[in-house]
Amino acid sequence: MLRNETANATLKNMVVEQWDHYAPKYTTRVGYHLSSDLKEAWKKELSRATDNRHNLKVLDVGTGPGFIAMLFEELGQDCIGVDFSEEMIKAARKESKKNHSSCSFIQADAEALPFDDESFDVVTNRHVIWTLTDPQKAMIEWVRVLKPGGRLIIFEGDWVEGQIKGIDRIRKQIGTKINNRHKSKQDSKDRTKTGKFDEIKQKLPLRRVTKEKVVRLMKNVDIRSVHNQDIGNLIRAEIKARPLGYKLTYNRNRFMVVGEKSDSPKESRKGGCHGK
Ligand SMILES: C[S@@+](CC[C@H](N)C(=O)[O-])C[C@H]1O[C@@H](n2cnc3c(N)ncnc32)[C@H](O)[C@@H]1O
Repeated sequence: MLRNETANATLKNMVVEQWDHYAPKYTTRVGYHLSSDLKEAWKKELSRATDNRHNLKVLDVGTGPGFIAMLFEELGQDCIGVDFSEEMIKAARKESKKNHSSCSFIQADAEALPFDDESFDVVTNRHVIWTLTDPQKAMIEWVRVLKPGGRLIIFEGDWVEGQIKGIDRIRKQIGTKINNRHKSKQDSKDRTKTGKFDEIKQKLPLRRVTKEKVVRLMKNVDIRSVHNQDIGNLIRAEIKARPLGYKLTYNRNRFMVVGEKSDSPKESRKGGCHGK
């Protein structure tokens, strides 16, 4: 194995170990227990990104507790979720059972998927690119398993706190104070662990991920018609659904990028996003 690959594998193991640790807490916080208004807001965006089509084969990469996979299933799609963290996969299976979902959840690496070429109509992920050790390699893999004309749908956010300025910074500080009042001893222990994750994050290539960077990654692979889908309504619905502290700390810097795999590599070189 080359030195770079060994370093990458070590970093990936460290990242996954952190997600294993956070899986139970993440599932409680981000799980599938949404108000019906918020679920509707999410489903609207997913429908829009797939032109309201049904019976699609969808792959949710870095699925965590299976949130996006199960929403797609509610829209009439056939879904598989993959995650490298064993604990996240356990959580997704548990959530799935609770919600009588028939999505499958498989432990697998986003950068080496156990699927044949051109086997999905949609590949999607939410809040995953920033945590990958080789996002470009992962994206090549996602395009490989997409059928020609299939959609790549990515939700991300710019999570770098230092970028928050002015009124947003003040809002966040007040929200953090409110949230901390409700935190338990266990949370304090977890904050020590978070310190370790913060160190690991510094080594990740896309720890600061912007719309522009995601668009560039897509343009580097066989993806055309790349566009940002406006998710203003979804962000407002997310904020409305949260308790005060989390309303204030909610990161509004989130975005959704959608693109399509070319019917042939030649076509992608002629037009679509590659020409822009
Ligand atoms: C912030 S969580 C997002 C979970 C889920 N997509 C959601 O929106 O709730 C990031 C997820 O990416 C997963 N992940 C990180 N690196 C991965 C990799 N190389 N392959 C597969 N999953 C990975 C983590 O285990 C974690 O579940």
